[in-house]
Formats: sequence, structure tokens, C-alpha cells
Amino acid sequence: MILVTGGAGFIGANFVLDWLRSCDEPVLTLDALTYAGNRENLASLKDDPRHIFVQGDICDRELIDRLLVEHPPRAIVHFAAESHVDRSIHGPGEFIRTNVNGTFTLLEAARAYWTGLSGAAREGFRFHHVSTDEVYGSLGPNDPAFTETKTYEPNSPYSASKAASDHLVRAWHHTYGLPVTTSNCSNNYGPYHFPEKLIPLIIANALAGKPLPVYGDGMQVRDWLYVTDHCSAIRAILDKGVPGEVYNVGGWNEKPNIEIVNTLCALLDELKPDPAGSYSRLITFVTDRPGHDRRYAIDARKIERELGWRPAETFETGIRKTVEWYLANQDWVANVLSGAYREWVETNYAQR
Ligand code: NAD
Ligand code: DAU
Repeated sequence: MILVTGGAGFIGANFVLDWLRSCDEPVLTLDALTYAGNRENLASLKDDPRHIFVQGDICDRELIDRLLVEHPPRAIVHFAAESHVDRSIHGPGEFIRTNVNGTFTLLEAARAYWTGLSGAAREGFRFHHVSTDEVYGSLGPNDPAFTETKTYEPNSPYSASKAASDHLVRAWHHTYGLPVTTSNCSNNYGPYHFPEKLIPLIIANALAGKPLPVYGDGMQVRDWLYVTDHCSAIRAILDKGVPGEVYNVGGWNEKPNIEIVNTLCALLDELKPDPAGSYSRLITFVTDRPGHDRRYAIDARKIERELGWRPAETFETGIRKTVEWYLANQDWVANVLSGAYREWVETNYAQR
């Protein structure tokens, strides 16, 4: 079986669902169910004997040691993290605790477990660390896209905490020989994306007739990847990736934020027209994010060359599927927009 941390979050849940759609190898999901984790994302697996869910913290060494004995995995796929840049600006402490200390705890538990293995089990074991392109810093308009050898220049508490975790993973390979792989991926979008992030927030606000907040001039560039393509990249790395190697994952799809917002408005105008007029009337430019990175771009040639992976979705197909998913899953959106979510919206947007 495999152990997936953070499997009740956006990408983790997509990964677990995809995994069990494509094979029968069981999955143990470990997730603390923070505000971003949602049992409902995995509701379709409730009676599936191939899936075990454990609510728990990656900082809890005793729990992880016990799980590794009770459900010995052949691989650990590590998604669990605090993931939202704006939250890291308002409260960096939890990012250090989960992303740095949590990854350290997991690495130590994995090392003890792997050291106790022998033969093929030891040979085949993998620890895959899911990281981000944000560790590389911000690009100018004409800079080349990030390759795996780009220097680390993290600019937010979030990206600094992810950079720290990447360094720990690297060191556990070089010093102890732990068979790790790391992926640094660009912005994901798709089903189960928590509506604090740009794309689901714009959809939710538009449908509620609320302002669509665009930070600064809206010309910051991100490289968008449909979430199931990220999942297939991780599967390819688990299958064929070389221990100690880093793989950049991206969609070859750079777009300024304002274009994303305009595209979402146009799709909503088509799929759920508002009698009051185009959703674009709600676009509101607000105060920029402090330290806002201007541009990210991923050079994904290594994973294509070495592992044969390429994204299957184009932005046009992926964004349409995403809007359709949100329109068909308004109950899911309503459930996650809890009291805690409303407090966050007040904290982040009231001053802008
Ligand atoms: P998310 O915030 O939606 O989900 C994170 C999950 O981790 C949640 O289910 C949460 O409950 C769980 N979690 C948080 N702290 C925990 C702890 N201490 N112990 C156990 N579980 C805990 O995040 P996401 O967007 O799905 O991102 C998943 C991973 O992918 C993260 O490591 C993130 O850095 C990375 N990543 C995200 C993107 C993106 O665009 N969202 C892109 C590249 C990389
Ligand atoms: O690049 C990968 C990263 O992508 C991941 O590591 C992070 O976990 C993930 O959250 C994401 O980070 P971003 O900061 O790029 O994503 P977010 O959706 O928060 O913002 C996307 C862009 O949109 C960014 O330039 C900020 C802008 N934005 C965001 C929000 C929430 C707005 O203009 N208005 C908003 O209200």
C-alpha cells in the first residue's frame, strides 16, 4: 500500500481518488483535517476496502511510527502542508510547524522504517515530497522558465517554509541514503480547490454576486496545470523517478491573473448567465499582496524527457471542466464556506 499525507486537501484528494480509479493498490490517508482538509472530498471511498483514513498530525511521531508498523507502505507521498500564501503572511507560525517540523518528523519516521526494511522492500521504497515552483522566487518578463537547477529564492513565509522542507528532503537522501524524490509544481486548479485560492474564489464570488478581487494590476503571471495532470506526474515519478532527483512539473501555460478572471467570467456568462449582466462587472482591483511574486514559469522538459510525462489537459479544456464542476457541486462549496472561512475573508479582504 501507499501512505498519502494531506489526502483530504485539494491535490491530495484528487490524487487518492485518481489512484484508486487507476489501480487497486490500497491507500492509507493521514490528514489532520485543518480548515483546508475535508473528509467529504473522499466521501466516494467511504465503503471502499482499499482506503483507510486516519485523522492525525504529521508532527505526531508516535502516531506515524504506529501507522508504519500497522500498515507498512511501499511509498509515502507527502502532500500535507499549509498551502496558502496570504495566510502565511497573516500567520507564518503554522507554516513553520507543519511544513518544516512536520516534514522533518515524517522524514525521521520514514528513515527509521526504511532502515528496518530489507531486500526488495528496502530497494523499492520511495518517499515522494510534493513541493512548489514558488521556492525558486520571482521571474522577470523575459527570464527563462525555472529549471531544476535554478537557485532557491523564496519570497513569502509559505515559499520559505516549503524551501526549507525541500532542503531537509535533499539532505535525508545525501546523508542517510533515504530514497526520496521531489516535484516542484506550478499552480494547480480543478475540482475540490478550496475557495480561498484565486480560481475557486472568483467562481464562488461571481455566483454570489460579490466583488471579484484582483490584487494590484492583475498582471502577475502564473503557470496553470489541471490537477489530474499533477497527479499523473507524481504517479510517473513514483514509477520511474530516480531517487535523489527533482522534477519540475508545469502546464506550459503562463497567464496573467486578469486573463484568468476574464476567462472565468466569460465561461460563467455562457454556462450560468446572470440577468444583471456580465460577471465581469464585478471585477475589483484591490491592494496588492505584500511581496507579491510577479511571474512563475516552469520548464517541464526534464520530466518529459526522462519519464515521458506531459499534461493531458489544455487550459481551455481544464478550465471549462473546472467551472462545470463548481456549478454542479454548489453543495460542496456551501459546506466549506463555514464560519471559519468567513472569518478568513474578513481578515484578508476587509483592509484591501
Ligand atoms: P491544501 O491546503 O488544499 O491541503 C493541505 C492538506 O494538508 C489538508 O487536507 C490539511 O488538512 C492537511 N494538513 C495540513 N497540516 C497538516 C498536518 N500538520 N498534519 C497532517 N495533515 C495536515 O493544499 P494543496 O493545494 O492540496 O497542496 C498540497 C501540496 O501540494 C502542498 O504541499 C503544496 O505546497 C503543494 N503544491 C500545491 C500547489 C497548488 O497549486 N495548490 C502547487 C504546487 C505544490
Ligand atoms: O505556484 C504554486 C503555488 O500556487 C502553490 O505552491 C500554492 O500552494 C498555491 O496556493 C498557489 O499559490 P498562489 O499564491 O500563486 O495562488 P493563489 O490562488 O493564492 O493566487 C494566484 C494569483 O492570484 C496570485 O498572483 C495572487 C492572485 N490573487 C489571489 C487571490 C486569492 C488575486 O489577485 N486575488 C485573490 O483574491
